[in-house]
Amino acid sequence: MEPRLGGPVSGNAIPPVDYLSWYVPRLQENRPHDLSQSGFGYDWQVEVGADAMLTFWKSGQDPAQWVADRYEVELNQVCIAHGACQSISLAILAALPVDGPRVVGVEMPSFAVVSQSARLLGCEVIPFHRGPSEGPWELNRAEVLEILPKVGVLALTPVMNPTGEMISEDDQQWLIKVTQEAGVNLVSDEVYLDASKGTEFYRPMYKYAKNAISINSLTKTYGLGPIRFGWMIGEPKLIQNAKNAFQNMQGLASAPTVSIAETVFPRLDEALDGIWEARKQNLPKLLEVLEAHGIKWTPPPFGIYGAFSIGMDAVEAMAKYGKPLGLLATPGGMFHSDLKHYLRIAWGSSPESFEAAMPVLSQFLTSIQEGIA
Ligand SMILES: Cc1ncc(COP(=O)(O)O)c(C=O)c1O
Repeated sequence: MEPRLGGPVSGNAIPPVDYLSWYVPRLQENRPHDLSQSGFGYDWQVEVGADAMLTFWKSGQDPAQWVADRYEVELNQVCIAHGACQSISLAILAALPVDGPRVVGVEMPSFAVVSQSARLLGCEVIPFHRGPSEGPWELNRAEVLEILPKVGVLALTPVMNPTGEMISEDDQQWLIKVTQEAGVNLVSDEVYLDASKGTEFYRPMYKYAKNAISINSLTKTYGLGPIRFGWMIGEPKLIQNAKNAFQNMQGLASAPTVSIAETVFPRLDEALDGIWEARKQNLPKLLEVLEAHGIKWTPPPFGIYGAFSIGMDAVEAMAKYGKPLGLLATPGGMFHSDLKHYLRIAWGSSPESFEAAMPVLSQFLTSIQEGIA
């Protein structure tokens, strides 16, 4: 189930994203207790008029300007795309040096789109690791140094999926230094990072590294996954490459998407406040359930999800005990085989639905523990 790394692929060699093959049908079951959503559930109450379907967006403004204003960068440092997933491919293409190796080093554990997409772009994809371990999620620096001479780009997800752990400042600065010395560019998927805005953990790569493209979208911290609005921020030269890639592979942005984005952009901080509130309300309830089952765990310092060991294969546990209880949560093995005993739980839902899910989660953990005993 973990991401499938390897050489360039096309045709029937294109691997599925096993995580999505597992997840989408289970999501469609509409299980009553869904703790799988790593995106924040925020109701923006946006009305979409018919004109959004017919014309370009209302103001005709450049959407890149809204991003530039929010992140305090220049307009020529921003490229708009359809979500973080599309941005990953475009950023990798933009960041691969013309004369460098067509090889991408990908941080593991990771969401399979980050780790597999470059194979479809004709690249070989090789791993480097942050964790996995029960202790701190540290970068394996020896491994990075070993692969650096072989790669053109390193791709990472500073706020890791499924653990929610932010890369340490020390590891981040070290990575910037060694990649710059090696002439390697960084592609940084920061789709969960804005939940840390206003804290010491908010360290987007574009702020520190001229050799980096930071990727973000409205999908996760802003709860607008269905509209597929994302962006890249970086140095103008790298961003111009990404814009050229976007024009070749996508053409134009979707007008209804941009129209909705325009409506919410001035209000985006509302969702970030909502995330802190959800943490305050929901996280203590989760910690209580885990403690009652003897599971010791320190949640990540921000955000709405985290992962811990449940003592058995989480895919099996979901099938055997989760489904009959109407519970859905995400197995860690989808991100790295060493995490197959981990379960990712998200606490971004309403206090009422989260509270209702806690006795169910408790029963689930009891069933596992009785099954093992
Ligand atoms: C690390 C990571 N990047 C990107 C995405 C998807 O982002 P988007 O919906 O903006 O394409 C996900 C979704 O699970 C993710 O976990």
